Amino acid sequence: MTALSGKTVLLIVGGGIAAYKCHELIRLLKTRGCRVRTILTRAAEEFVTPLSLASLSGEKVHTALFNLTDEVEMGHIELSRAADLLVVAPATADLLAKMAHGLADDLASTALLATDKPVLAAPAMNVRMWRHPATQRNVKVLDGDGIRFVGPNDGEMACGEFGPGRMAEPAEIVGAISSLLQPKDQPLAGRKVVITAGPTREPIDPVRFISNHSSGKQGYAIAAAAVALGAETVIVSGPVSLPIPPGAQVLRVETARDMLVACEDEMPCDIAIFAAAVADWRVDQIADQKMKKRRTGPPVLSLTENPDILKTIAGKTSKRPTIVVGFAAETEQVVANAQAKLKKKGCDLIVANDVAEGTGVFGGDRNTVHLVSRAGVESWPAMSKQDVSTKLMHRLVLMLRADDRKS
Ligand code: PMT
Repeated sequence: MTALSGKTVLLIVGGGIAAYKCHELIRLLKTRGCRVRTILTRAAEEFVTPLSLASLSGEKVHTALFNLTDEVEMGHIELSRAADLLVVAPATADLLAKMAHGLADDLASTALLATDKPVLAAPAMNVRMWRHPATQRNVKVLDGDGIRFVGPNDGEMACGEFGPGRMAEPAEIVGAISSLLQPKDQPLAGRKVVITAGPTREPIDPVRFISNHSSGKQGYAIAAAAVALGAETVIVSGPVSLPIPPGAQVLRVETARDMLVACEDEMPCDIAIFAAAVADWRVDQIADQKMKKRRTGPPVLSLTENPDILKTIAGKTSKRPTIVVGFAAETEQVVANAQAKLKKKGCDLIVANDVAEGTGVFGGDRNTVHLVSRAGVESWPAMSKQDVSTKLMHRLVLMLRADDRKS
C-alpha cells in the first residue's frame, strides 16, 4: 500500500448513492500518505457535501468549471495533470457515457478529457443500467481507451434490486489504486514488514518507570528502508520522540505486554524485525499511588519476567512471519551471545550490536553489526544506522526470494 505515499490522486465523485463511500476512500488514502484532491459533479453534491470531503481530505473541493480563482491559480487542466492517477468513484452511467464520448461540459468531464494520467473507474449504478447495451458499449470503448475498472460488485442495491452494480468497497479501490501506482523497482511491494523500535516502559507507580536508553533510531531507520522498497510498513513503537517515516504506520505502546499484543495483532506478515529494547522484567505490584520515602529505608521492588516478544512470534505455528529477525544488544562476547540467542529465540537471523559503554549505539547515529544466522556470521564495518537498515532490508529481500523459491 505504500506505493501511495507521496502520490496525488484526483478523485472525481459522481452523483450516486455510493458517493457516501468516498468518505472512507479518502480516509484510507490519506492514512497511506496519499494526497487526495476532489472534484464533485453537480449531481454528487446532492449526495455528499464539499465541506465533508474537504474536512477529510484537507484540500479544497472543486465543483465548478468556470471558477475565476481556480483558473487564475492553476486551471482545470493543471488539476488533472498534477495528479498521478484519476479515480472516478462512483462512476455513474452518465459519467461513463461522457467519458466514452469525450464530452467536456463540466469540471469532472473536462478534467477526464484533459488528463494524460491513468484513470481508474469504480462503476456504481442500478443493475439494469449496468447491463444496458449502451452502458456495456461505453465500458468496452473505455476499456479500449485504457481506462481501468474496479467492480462493480454483485449484491443488493439501494433500489432493492440484486445483481452487479454495487460500487467496489473502498479497500478494494485502494488495492486497485496501489497496484496501478506501484513503481516497478520495489521488491517489497505487496509485502508487509513489522518492526519493533524504541524502549518499553514498565511502571513502578503513577510517576516512575523502568526503561532504557533506546532512542528508536535504528528501528525507525529500518522502517524507512522498508518503505523505500515498497513494503507496507508497521512500526510497533515504544515511547520515542522521532518523526514517523513517511509512508510507515506507527502503533504506539508503552509496556512489553502492550508491545506483544500489538505485534500479535499485526500478524501475519512477511518480515518481522525486533529492534526494540524490551524490558526483560516488570514490577510485580505497580503501586496505585506515588510511593513515598519511608523511615524504614527504600522499598524493595519485586520483579517478574516480561513475555519474550521475539521468541513468541518466532515460535508461532500459525501466522508466523516468513522471516523473523531479532537484534542482540550485547556488552561482551557479542557474536557468541548472539549465536546463543539465535537458537534460544528460534528466529532466522540475529543482528548483533555491541552496546557497551562508549560505543554510542544507544541513541547514536552509527552502528557496527554482525549478521548471525545458521549459515554463519557476517561482520559489517561501522556505518550509519540508515546504511545498516538499507543493507539489511536488501539482504532480507534476498532471503524472502529464496523462501519464495522453496515454496
Ligand atoms: O534505539 P537506538 O537508540 O537506535 O538503539 C538501537 C538498539 C541498540 C536498541 C538496537 O540496535 C538493538 O540492539 N535492539 C535490541 C535491544 C535488546 O533488547 O536486545 P536483547 O539482546 O536484550 O534482546 C534480544 C532480542 O529479543 C531483541 O530483538 C529484542 O527486541 C527481543 N526481546 C527482548 C526481550 C523481550 N522481552 N522481548 C523481546 O522481543
